[in-house]
Amino acid sequence: MRVTKMMAMLAALAAVAGCATSQGDSDSAAIRQGEAAASAQCAGCHAIGPSGESSRKEARPFRAIAADYSEASLLRELEAISEVGHYQMPPRPIAREDLQALARYISSLRLPRRRRP
Ligand code: HEC
Repeated sequence: MRVTKMMAMLAALAAVAGCATSQGDSDSAAIRQGEAAASAQCAGCHAIGPSGESSRKEARPFRAIAADYSEASLLRELEAISEVGHYQMPPRPIAREDLQALARYISSLRLPRRRRP
């Protein structure tokens, strides 16, 4: 039951993320929002920008994470992190619009090398 509800929610999130892709303005707004959320909530452990090392070495730089995950799978990963926490991080609900913005921001880190089709 709970899983079904979560799937529905993820589908909704993915749909919204899909919309943002076709709109350049909301796209960059989401990226800026994601960057702000990352610097507030993630930068303590992860390198969040296009260069630099993570302050916690097991926490991979976001640009490396970006290379391994699609935006949709990132969104699922972040959703799980938001519910159950990860590693030393206690569960900390991430606001829904931040989840999406974070996934978009992290994905944007790989755009300079691999342009969107
Ligand atoms: C307290 C330190 C800490 C904070 C804060 C933190 N992380 Fe992490 N994160 C880690 C560590 C450590 C790992 C890797 C552990 C491992 O792979 O064994 C990790 C792994 C991840 C992964 C999986 C990456 C992979 O290598 O596949 C994602 C995605 C992620 N973090 C996203 C985030 C996001 C988004 C935030 C901010 C909302 C965040 N993290 C904040 C410590 C942290």
